[in-house]
Formats: sequence, structure tokens, C-alpha cells
Amino acid sequence: VESLRLGVAGLGTVGASLLRILQRHGNDLALRVGRPVVVTSVSARDRMRDRGVDLTPFAWFDDPVALARSNDIDVFVELMGGADGPAAASVRAAIEAGKHVVTANKALLARHGTELARAAEANGVSLNFEAAAAGGIPIIKTLRESLAGNTVSRVYGILNGTCNYILTRMEREGLSFDACLAEAQRLGYAEADPTFDVDGFDTAHKLSLLTAIAFGSEIDTDEIYVEGIRSITTADIEAADELGYRIKLLGVASWSDGGIEQRVHPTMVPKSSPIARVDGVTNAVAVEADFVGRLVLSGPGAGGDATASSVMSDIADIARGDVVGTFGRPAHTLQPYRRAGIRAHEGGYYIR
Ligand code: HSE
Repeated sequence: VESLRLGVAGLGTVGASLLRILQRHGNDLALRVGRPVVVTSVSARDRMRDRGVDLTPFAWFDDPVALARSNDIDVFVELMGGADGPAAASVRAAIEAGKHVVTANKALLARHGTELARAAEANGVSLNFEAAAAGGIPIIKTLRESLAGNTVSRVYGILNGTCNYILTRMEREGLSFDACLAEAQRLGYAEADPTFDVDGFDTAHKLSLLTAIAFGSEIDTDEIYVEGIRSITTADIEAADELGYRIKLLGVASWSDGGIEQRVHPTMVPKSSPIARVDGVTNAVAVEADFVGRLVLSGPGAGGDATASSVMSDIADIARGDVVGTFGRPAHTLQPYRRAGIRAHEGGYYIR
């Protein structure tokens, strides 16, 4: 049997964890998927940085686009981040060269996901992104595959580990916003630019991907009402507590009258709700659908190991030859985005 050969672009927290997973579980993985899965080539900005993993077995590429086109890979694993620049250029190059793509890059897919999914379909390759939303939680597979027999009416949840970590520590320990953010950065949870986390854009990027799968629509992030957590104070958190609520940054997407409503903002969540009890870097996603009812999935939303676990699941699918459309349907059938009649923020700042 032929090995599945991976080229990994980006060796930050997630990339280094992915190499460690393959070192530790490579043999077991080969048994599961029926063929060896091997990294042949890597690319990163800094060749010399100590990542705690031995890079000598791999061919080194300074240019991720050259890696994406290399004849020595079958799958291009994009872990660089960024909506445009080298990430977008190399993912496009990989698809055009007939390589499968696995990416954790929610910003890229939020901006170019519809186009890239159609390009992947036209070139007969997979474009998989389990790690792009909610870290280690298998929410993409759940929505895309496990719930194929349902019509989804609403999907919502805590989609940013950094914000939930900050809100939890402000609440528990009365620490300042800035101190909590610095700690989240130190732990490797935050984006390279933490503005994306705290101002709600990272949540919006992830929500837009869940929306495309849940409602079969093209992605349109301009339609999302976005507000972050910068203005939340410990006094707000205490006041909510006295009223029986906790404040969570939620992303909410719902379907009504043939249209979609998407919003991201700090939300009063009743303490009796299962998502109110989700603390720290943990994320939680609730899905409401007609046949299954309500599901709530929770787990680590950020961090190298948990996110690399999701990257591995996409690689395993490709190794097995499973082909599922990027957004769970043929990409050419994604419908033009239709906004619901109500304006997004009229939905209010509470959730039931
Ligand atoms: N910065 C993101 C978070 C990482 O805190 O959730 C996972 O996408």
C-alpha cells in the first residue's frame, strides 16, 4: 500500500503538536486507516527555533507555495494562519496542483471558503477544516456528517477559548482584563493578533463556517453583527451573577423565514443553561435540529494538542479515501446568502 505523504506548512503550537502526534501514534494510525501516514516536507518562517521535535527527517521549504506544489506530497496541511498572504496563496496552489488540503485557518475560510471549496471540488480534492472551529471539538463532522438527516434551526456557542478564559478568570479571581489576556497569550491560546479574539472576529470567522454547513449557504462575514468583550468589567460580571446569569461571548446563527441571522456578542446566559457552566479555555457548541433535538458538545477550544487532534481527524479521513464536500454538500450547490428579516442585534443579549 502507498503511504499518504503530508507537507506541513506552519510549525507553531499546532504544527509542532501534529508532528508529536504522528511520532507517538503513527503506527496505530496506519493500522486504523490501512496505510502509513508520513510527513515528508515542512515549511515555517524560522528554521532554527527549538520546537521540541526533530525536523531533520523532513525536506525543508522556505516557500510554502513551493511546498504546496511539491511532487513529494499528497496532502498540504496549512497551519500558518492569516486570511490572505502565504496561507491563501499556498492553499490555492495546492488545490490547483491536485493536492488535498487540511487547514486550521478559520480566517482564510471565512474570507475565501466558498471559492476554495468550489476550486477543491473542481479539482477532485478534499478541503477539510475540523480544526478551524472550536479546537478539539468535532463540531464540523457532527454538523456536516452526523446530522445529515436533520434540518438545523440554530447553532450557537462559546467559540473562542481566549475570551472564555479571560471572562472566567475575571469572574473567579477578579483579575483585570489585561492580566488575563497576557496569560492566555502565554498559554498559546490567543491568535497572533489577539484583537481577533477579544473583539469577536475569531468567533465570527468560526460561526460563519458553522453557518455554511448548517444552512447550506455561501459565506458572508459582512452579514455578522460583531461585538467583543473589551468593554466587559468585573462589575458587569457581578451584576449578571446577582440576576442569575453568567456573561459569555457567544456566536449565534439561526434560520428563520428562509433567511439567516448571525451575531457575536457578550451574552447573558442563565446559570441553568449547560453552556453557562463552561469555564476556562473550554468551548461549547449547541445545535438545535428537527429530528435529533438539541445537542451540546464541549471540550478544549484552543491549544496545540487539542487542535492538532482535529487536524489528524481530517488527515485520517483523506487517508481512508473518504470524500465529503467541504461544507457537507457539493460546493456548487451552496446557496447565495440570504439574511433573515430581522436585523441581527435585535435578537438581544440574552439567550434561552
Ligand atoms: N485563538 C483561538 C481561541 C484559538 O482562543 O479560541 C482557536 O481557534
